[in-house]
Amino acid sequence: MSKRFYLTTAIDYVNGQPHLGHAYEKVITDVIARAHRSMGEGTFYLTGVDEHGQKVQQAAVADGKTAQAYCDELARAWQAFAAKLELTNNDFVRTTELRHQVMVEAVLRKLHSAGHFYRAEYSGFYSTKEETFLTEKDRRPDGTFDPIYGEVVELVEDNYYFKLKDHQTWLIDYVENDPDFILPQARRNEVLGFLKNNPLEDLCITRPASRLNWGIPVPFDPGYVTYVWFDALLNYITVPAAYGDPVVLGALDSAVEAPESDWRMPGSALELWPADVQVVGKDIVKFHAVFWPIMLRALGLPLPRQLLVHGWWQYEGQKMSKTTGNIVDPMAVIAEWGVDAFRYYVIRELGIGSDGNWTDAGFQARYQADLANGLGNLVNRSLSMLNRYRQGRVPERSEDLAPDAEKAIRESSENLKQLQLQTALQVVWSLVNRANQYVDHTAPFKLAKDPAQAQRLDAVLYSLAETCRVLAVLIWPFLPSTANRIYAQLGLTGSPDQIAASKWGGLPPGHAIGKISPLFPRRDQPSAGPITAGVSRP
Ligand code: MSP
Repeated sequence: MSKRFYLTTAIDYVNGQPHLGHAYEKVITDVIARAHRSMGEGTFYLTGVDEHGQKVQQAAVADGKTAQAYCDELARAWQAFAAKLELTNNDFVRTTELRHQVMVEAVLRKLHSAGHFYRAEYSGFYSTKEETFLTEKDRRPDGTFDPIYGEVVELVEDNYYFKLKDHQTWLIDYVENDPDFILPQARRNEVLGFLKNNPLEDLCITRPASRLNWGIPVPFDPGYVTYVWFDALLNYITVPAAYGDPVVLGALDSAVEAPESDWRMPGSALELWPADVQVVGKDIVKFHAVFWPIMLRALGLPLPRQLLVHGWWQYEGQKMSKTTGNIVDPMAVIAEWGVDAFRYYVIRELGIGSDGNWTDAGFQARYQADLANGLGNLVNRSLSMLNRYRQGRVPERSEDLAPDAEKAIRESSENLKQLQLQTALQVVWSLVNRANQYVDHTAPFKLAKDPAQAQRLDAVLYSLAETCRVLAVLIWPFLPSTANRIYAQLGLTGSPDQIAASKWGGLPPGHAIGKISPLFPRRDQPSAGPITAGVSRP
């Protein structure tokens, strides 16, 4: 047994509307997961949904459903969303699953008996919308609270708290000593700044069941349920435990009271923890860079190797919001333009960490330039010429584009390993552009008119077809359907899902290619309506 490369995403609030932001995070993670699989590494990709809390409970009531029935319905929609994005997640975790409940209870039991919690009375402000306690510091100069907190009430209640203060020093040292723990560096600096300048407040980890009961019961006090963030973060170890991960089981097994049939996948034994990359958006860094490492340390578990923090998308320069309807709906984009066009745009448009702005014009321009006129045109004309001039048979091997292909293979792999997805894609497209220029320079249509140039034409046609094959392998992590279609059009069986297959010379001379069809049909007429659904423009 050897450890898998384990990647996670944030788990989305089940009652939110799946939009570009959620899709972006899952696609980034999918590209990294596929790249690692393509490099031959055992990989496990986890995503899922976050189902507890007051907002879900209220939405279910408003919908006339039980919270569980409401979650079941929405979780199915999120799973369908993941499938539409062609994510290769190995599991899909739901925080209402029994396996998760068992793990959360075990964690609470273990930390409680080790003395990490205490009970105390709180009196102060509470935001029901954000399910969070607020202090005087959160007040604006005029005494009001930011509207993001919704209604703020004053309350007095008893809760359990997790002692964080003792953890401040080691966490600062940890972040300082491992420059790659939080990426990009700007986020790491932000975390260090926060940790160095603010004494950590203890974390309230319960809510009274009388006020909120849609949560995981606290095993040592039936009057309470678990705070939704404490519950949600633990999903990252629930799944390893369910698959028999020895590290997580070593720390928790003795605190688990439920029978194995409640939480173990029979017959599985995977080494997953610690996670290799945890991908999250910039708004939830504190939970992942402060609370989560402390929870793990208190449990005696190793910390994840890397927290990769991505930026936020806007749509046409405005914040995306369910209430205003200003949302890019990936499903609508995919229905009209195909999943690969969506995946391409979001990865190509921005480097991980930066904020982005989706514009319909920008999306259409990239579709036209990079996909239709770039990759699509290259594959279509290369294979059409092979059909026309050589009856679809691959000629003798030639090396014209081999150095360019090798450079692209090397550099894109290097960038993928460094999580530089945007640069990796740019490198691949420099090969697309190089091959398109090669067609223009070598002018095979002219060579075909001169029988004395037959060998030269063979060389050009081979180089082009083989470049298309190499490109299929290189784009597979990013545009898997297109990669498979290129392979099929080349008459190759299987999937271009192993980087080892990108080595130049894979197309055997004499091989017959398959049926050709345009990969990205040109759209000379702009589409009828807006390309995104649910869009209301200012
Ligand atoms: N449920 C919590 C996460 C718990 S993880 C243990 C949550 N859910 S969320 O649905 O609000 O957000 C899920 C992810 O989507 C977060 O990483 C968040 O940053 C990301 N995004 C939500 N809107 C976004 C954009 N507009 N742009 C990019 N990503 C955004 O937080």
